[in-house]
Amino acid sequence: MKNLLFICTLENLSDPGSYGFSLDFAGKTVDGFVVRRDGECFGYRNSCPHTGSPLDWVEHQFLDIEGSLIQCAVHDARFLIDTGECVMGPCPGESLESLPIRVKGDKIYLLGDA
Ligand code: FES
Repeated sequence: MKNLLFICTLENLSDPGSYGFSLDFAGKTVDGFVVRRDGECFGYRNSCPHTGSPLDWVEHQFLDIEGSLIQCAVHDARFLIDTGECVMGPCPGESLESLPIRVKGDKIYLLGDA
């Protein structure tokens, strides 16, 4: 069974924009972020496939200056927003781990397995 874990509201995100979160569920902490672009939202674990480091260096900032790619602040890898695939930097072809999210009304939730 899936539980809905509240992450944030759409008002917390510009478009394009990003929002980081840390949620406790079933005794585990899930560190992730959501990205909004063209009205669509995507969720990823906040762990770079290069070294496992968190990607952000400023709270909630996961996008490059143009807002067109996800950017890792550690060694500057860039990832496609819709698939999480690395297209520039030290881990080409690797991908961010997608997290299941759902948008209901103006709220964004993480889907947790119970
Ligand atoms: S840790 Fe993300 S690019 Fe190196």
